Amino acid sequence: MKPISRRAALTIGSAGLAGTVVGGTGLWRELSTSVLDPVAGELFTEPEVLRSAGGLLEVRLEAALGKHEVAGREATTLGYNGGVPGPTLRLRPGDTLRVELVNRLDRVTNLHVHGLHVSPEGNGDNVFVAVEPGRAHRYEYRLPDNHPPGAYWYHPHHHGTVADQVFGGLYGAIIVEDDEELRVDRERVMVVSDITLDSGGSLVSPSTMEQMMGREGELVLVNGAAKPDLKGRSGERERWRIINACTARYLALRLPEQRARVVGRDVGRLPRDTALDDVVLAPGNRLDLVVDLSEGGSELTAMPVDRGGMMGQMMGGGPRPGGSGPVTLARLSVSASGNRAVGEIPAGPAVRDLRDDDVDGRRSITFQMGMGGMMGGGDSPMSFTFDGEEFDADRIDQQVGMDTVEEWTIGNDSPMDHPFHLHVWPMQLLEVDGRELSEPVWLDVVNVPARSQVKVRVAFEDFGGRTVYHCHILDHEDRGMMGTVLAS
Ligand code: C2O
Ligand code: CU
Ligand code: CU
Repeated sequence: MKPISRRAALTIGSAGLAGTVVGGTGLWRELSTSVLDPVAGELFTEPEVLRSAGGLLEVRLEAALGKHEVAGREATTLGYNGGVPGPTLRLRPGDTLRVELVNRLDRVTNLHVHGLHVSPEGNGDNVFVAVEPGRAHRYEYRLPDNHPPGAYWYHPHHHGTVADQVFGGLYGAIIVEDDEELRVDRERVMVVSDITLDSGGSLVSPSTMEQMMGREGELVLVNGAAKPDLKGRSGERERWRIINACTARYLALRLPEQRARVVGRDVGRLPRDTALDDVVLAPGNRLDLVVDLSEGGSELTAMPVDRGGMMGQMMGGGPRPGGSGPVTLARLSVSASGNRAVGEIPAGPAVRDLRDDDVDGRRSITFQMGMGGMMGGGDSPMSFTFDGEEFDADRIDQQVGMDTVEEWTIGNDSPMDHPFHLHVWPMQLLEVDGRELSEPVWLDVVNVPARSQVKVRVAFEDFGGRTVYHCHILDHEDRGMMGTVLAS
């Protein structure tokens, strides 16, 4: 039996829902049959790599709509410097990164360096900056000498346009190198994204309903390609940095028949490596994976993730995103070699643990969805908020003291999962739904399951200033699920 596609399911579902919820105002996009036919199986490639030298990396990033190679075809998408994804930036702790962002789009944009522990003020990682069409802005980010290594990324962050611009193709990787390199035969950076293109290669906008659930693209790409081919030899050790740059899609990755161990998540290394199956990447999350190749093949596969449904409480069901069946992201073929034995994965450096610290403050912040949203031109039958308040750039929602440790309880009153993202200061995840973690895990995006809560601790240090936290389902962020935090 041919599995039903998510879009088909949406369309079928609309018959029963339209009258009740939205009065049939065209919230459901027509079933489109003309979706771009991807060219799969091309050799795995990576974007251009730009490396710092002498403590400095200077980059010019031009954001534009244009012809880009996507899924092996010529498509008309957004991109930085003519590519999807944009260039990979490689930095070391202590470096300075200077970016001149040039806006060749017809809408306002800006730049955010997701996960970097840098100042949110002035021309730093300031999401309140607006770069108008035809204008440029010079950003400068100074990484502290003890900046945690890991895979980070950059993307636009102008409230109200983020989902469209990321979905359209604006993202790229940032790697902060380890002090002590993990020895591997090959390192690969994989930016995973999703997009919907019509048969002519043009972007398709999602319906209001898809946006409310968090849009998931028809095509899931690795470095802009459809199911690229990775080649290696048995006995080789590879390190894969996987970035979930999807607008709303969660990734539960599998790599059957191969030994794949997670050695790091968003921020730094893990105290102990864990199984790939134990980790789900919410939008914005990253994975640092060590893969020991054995002869044969495998497919990097994203399993469906049930992230709840918007209509849960009202309809007793309704369409649910993320459930459309496994998606193959890449194919791996491993040829035989001398079968050199690979050793154990060396342990990373000691990991900081805030559970031993005194807590200076506790607060709770809760994801809420309600009827009638004001954002997005008032077309939204649902509101997306923290504690009932839609984003207001001029309001301060949380005020914290510098050099304090706080414990935050992030609640979720709604029937779907929301990934909580805090800028500038990483979060140590303590507890999910009442279950305590046994080891320190540092993240900058923490999934908060539907009707549940998580606890995190944050050390507000090194940088003060005002920045944001938000849902990393970017459609929700654009609709108001964002708040501000001032550290001073
Ligand atoms: Cu990746 Cu505030 O975002
Ligand atoms: Cu971010
Ligand atoms: Cu959300």
